[in-house]
Amino acid sequence: MDAFLIEGGRKIGGEVKISGSKNASLPILAATLLTDDDVILKNAPDLSDVRTMLKLLSYIGKEIEKKDDSLIVKQGEKINTEAPYDLVKTMRASVLVLGAMIGKYHRARVSFPGGCAIGARPIDQHLKGFEALGVKIDIEEGYIVAGVKKLVGNRVVFDVPTVGGTENVLMAAVFSEGGAVLENAAMEPEVVDLANFLNSMGAKISGAGTPTIQVEGVKKLHGSDYSIIPDRIEAATYFIAGAMAGGEVVVDSLIPEHIEAVLKKADESGVDFSVEDSRIIVRGGRKLRGVQIKTQPYPGFPTDVQAQMMSMLTRAQGISVIVETIFENRFMHVNELNRMGANIKVEDRTAIINGVKKLKGAPVMASDLRASASLVLAGLVAEGVTKISRIYHLDRGYESMECKLNALGASVKRIKE
Ligand code: UD1
Repeated sequence: MDAFLIEGGRKIGGEVKISGSKNASLPILAATLLTDDDVILKNAPDLSDVRTMLKLLSYIGKEIEKKDDSLIVKQGEKINTEAPYDLVKTMRASVLVLGAMIGKYHRARVSFPGGCAIGARPIDQHLKGFEALGVKIDIEEGYIVAGVKKLVGNRVVFDVPTVGGTENVLMAAVFSEGGAVLENAAMEPEVVDLANFLNSMGAKISGAGTPTIQVEGVKKLHGSDYSIIPDRIEAATYFIAGAMAGGEVVVDSLIPEHIEAVLKKADESGVDFSVEDSRIIVRGGRKLRGVQIKTQPYPGFPTDVQAQMMSMLTRAQGISVIVETIFENRFMHVNELNRMGANIKVEDRTAIINGVKKLKGAPVMASDLRASASLVLAGLVAEGVTKISRIYHLDRGYESMECKLNALGASVKRIKE
């Protein structure tokens, strides 16, 4: 297994280019199942989660070519409407092929995704949405078995705004007869990107990015040549790296509106930055203040940046409070940050961070994707060497993180353990 060795205390500076969004790429790749034509996707990041989705698409029957920075997805000879346990267990987002296969083939057999480290993460809302469209769902030997003769347009009201649920049901709804309406839909930019991609293939979707999405059913979707949005979570991570360890860092090729909630809290905390079109220039070195944060669905503060922000706040003056409202078990980085000298206490879903003067390098363990990123950030500013084990979590969602950080002047070494 790979680990990172980070020599802390180096000032970072320069420009870092943000890659394509992981969380937009996964549903968009699943949505290529909705057409028999070729699809060209630009700006898809080279990440292990994306490779898992490509493996799953190949298993189902797509052929994938890589050309420069594009992926070309073509229809293969034979289609197999199944997603086996081995592929789903490594990545929960594999369940997104369910909606696409229901939409295109009217049947699917997809392994039930288990829980995961950050919480139970049920898919009841996905299934409720499919059922509203007339789909019959059975659970057989750990698999979701879905079948439908004709997808009917209907009103789907989600009990909670779910990103994956909205995306999954949207993919099934594009071919529904009579038009579907999704209410209390997730408003995340990745949902909007999926809707834009589906529309580029001939779907008729409006309202994505608001709580009500309207879908006028169509008979067929055609191919597309589409560019995926930049990864807002990666952008926020490098922005925080700059605030903690800069120098002056230019975070380039992002959509600043997508991280507005993060920028607002950073500003409140005293981070020095300016926003220019698709770049943010952030300058480190300021004394930061403690702030209060509550994670919320978009446009609120993203749960996927909670751990990284906590890392920054470990050294802010005074007390910070972070309430995690989306996932019940997403504070696994706390013990590791405390091992590095932070002073954080957790009560239920609230973390109370008492600012300390400095962090010290220590051996720590990555527990999930964003928790790993928070440890990398802490390692950049800690005195001495930080060793982060289980870096495979990080490789799921950050493209060449050590290369990007080293290009900024950090010292991050990948080693085999
Ligand atoms: C997506 C993101 C993940 C991010 C999360 C919240 C991808 C691949 N992953 O995950 O990085 O942290 O959004 O922004 O895009 N819920 C239910 N029933 C359901 C579905 C969800 O109760 O059927 C609950 C979940 O337990 C959670 C909340 O709804 O408390 C939000 O989850 P959801 O938006 O579905 O997250 P994901 O799509 O899994």
